[in-house]
Amino acid sequence: MTGTLYGIGVGPGDPELMTVKAYRRLKEAEVIAYPKKGRQSKSYAEQIIDAYFAPEEKRRLGLHFPMTKDVDVLEPKWNEAADAIWAELSAGRDVAFVTEGDPLLYSTFIHLMHVMERRYPDAPIEVVPGVSSANAAAARLRLPLADGDEQVAIVPARDDYEAMKAAILAHDCVIFFKVAKVIDLMIRLLRELDLLHRAAVVTKATSREEVIWDVERLEGAELEYLTLLVVRK
Ligand SMILES: C[S@@+](CC[C@H](N)C(=O)[O-])C[C@H]1O[C@@H](n2cnc3c(N)ncnc32)[C@H](O)[C@@H]1O
Repeated sequence: MTGTLYGIGVGPGDPELMTVKAYRRLKEAEVIAYPKKGRQSKSYAEQIIDAYFAPEEKRRLGLHFPMTKDVDVLEPKWNEAADAIWAELSAGRDVAFVTEGDPLLYSTFIHLMHVMERRYPDAPIEVVPGVSSANAAAARLRLPLADGDEQVAIVPARDDYEAMKAAILAHDCVIFFKVAKVIDLMIRLLRELDLLHRAAVVTKATSREEVIWDVERLEGAELEYLTLLVVRK
């Protein structure tokens, strides 16, 4: 029997926010796969599951996805990752690929799933949803994301003042992911729209390292990648 590839959402940081199903799939899978960063540092998703599974408890398969947009560099690495997963599945072993938050929301798993579908169309794939960082931040801030007829958007923040402004103007509430590198632009924009008092910035929501920032003092700050900004008008 061919094994199954599970895309597992492990939630936003607090291990208790992993679903019972995610836990069971991780417990039952023979192999846990994760996106590997540098030689030393652990991925955030791996840190979350460490609360329940000791690293030596079962085989861990670190998959390296270079941080580049160069297709000639990326393509062979994605294929390598898919081949490594297929080697396990074809030997009858289930592979649980862990992802922070939800696996189908701006996640490495999305591309991995597409590569698997292309290269190994017979590979069984199942997705276990996770609590996304957007929901986690809302809970920590006690901030409704949308109510009644309101419209909410999730937008990857970019160095594009007009596009970011248009997103804010078009929705009642916007969650900006990947905001760390453009925080100064976002703060300037929110100040100019007189919405800074309506914004919140959260790093590593619900984890032990969570920070809820004072937005008035953020200009020039060096923020971690796992930071989002939410503005509710
Ligand atoms: C590649 S996306 C992953 C989103 C993830 N799949 C989810 O469902 O939350 C990475 C971006 O999500 C946001 N993010 C993910 N986890 C976070 C957390 N625990 N706290 C704050 N922001 C987070 C950050 O904006 C980060 O730049």
